[in-house]
Amino acid sequence: MASRKLLLLPGDGIGPEAMAEVRKLIAVMNEETNAGFETEEGLVGGCAYDAHGASISEGDMEKAMAADAVLFGAVGGPKWDSVPYEVRPEAGLLRLRKDMQLFANLRPAICYPALAHSSSLKPDVVEGLDILIVRELTGGVYFGEPKEIIDLGNGQKRGIDTQIYDTFEIERISGVAFELARTRRGEVCSMEKRNVMKSGVLWNEVVTATHKAKYADVKLTHMLADAGGMQLVRWPKQFDVIVTDNLFGDMLSDVAAMLTGSLGMLPSASLGAPDARTGSRKALYEPVHGSAPDIAGQGIANPIAMIASFAMCLRYSFNMVAEADRLEAAISAVLDDGIRTKDIASEGVQTVSTSDMGDAIVAKFRA
Ligand code: IPM
Ligand code: MG
Repeated sequence: MASRKLLLLPGDGIGPEAMAEVRKLIAVMNEETNAGFETEEGLVGGCAYDAHGASISEGDMEKAMAADAVLFGAVGGPKWDSVPYEVRPEAGLLRLRKDMQLFANLRPAICYPALAHSSSLKPDVVEGLDILIVRELTGGVYFGEPKEIIDLGNGQKRGIDTQIYDTFEIERISGVAFELARTRRGEVCSMEKRNVMKSGVLWNEVVTATHKAKYADVKLTHMLADAGGMQLVRWPKQFDVIVTDNLFGDMLSDVAAMLTGSLGMLPSASLGAPDARTGSRKALYEPVHGSAPDIAGQGIANPIAMIASFAMCLRYSFNMVAEADRLEAAISAVLDDGIRTKDIASEGVQTVSTSDMGDAIVAKFRA
């Protein structure tokens, strides 16, 4: 039996509730299909800060580096609003991304037919939507130095963040986008702000050159990122794959997520480069929604984004394509049956708990 090492980092807020539903699936898959998942648990975010004064401990970082894949819940909450910046909950996630070199963040936005009416946009605008945002995740303004607040000595301070991109970073992320486009509709739209930013000029140049050199079979278009945001809410179905930098990707993926009805639906995969020797790549899977402290602990959170993130894990880390398809079909079937958590229910519709939603998906998965 293959052994597949998973590190579970449920984190804060609704993270642990959502992760509990994935644990059920892991147990079923071990039992039914001999999947051989071995799980370890760790702390990240506010709970890690409470336990050891850091947003992730060195021990848990080591576990993450050694795992075949990391499943991540969510971090943060008002309880930790005033902890020092260096150890704020989000720092744990950023460290995982940086140390594991997870430069490619895949954020699919799929509108399940049963949910076309839950979107704030008209159903015909989102029905059948299937786009993929490929966000650069280890560069740009998130990590560029200098990054500081300096005292100017005249009663003024200056906040500085630095947007930096090197050629190789743009080449590798656009390569991922082009490769993925080949498995889809074959179209990539690259978004930057070349009209204002030097890094945008370089981004545009390098994406264009990479396309010409290796991916001319894919259709490439460019859009300024602000216009891209507008087009995403105007007619999102015009897009197949969108490739963009870390900060624009953060914003545009929240916009895309909401098109699908609820932030509670969207999974993501963060991938490193394939190891030259083994071909395996470091990976972390997380729902796009955050810790949702307002509803945490009530058992009403939607676990679908977390479960769909596990499906991405099956697909990208373990090449368990049949199981991933089956799990995604189970989610779709449960939605077709009208089973709804509160965030995706229309008014007056009966809603189920986090755990009931998880059970319903497990049952469909088994069937
Ligand atoms: C995301 C989140 C993170 C980000 C936060 C929690 C640091 O918003 O994954 O989109 O900004 O990247
Ligand atoms: Mg975000």
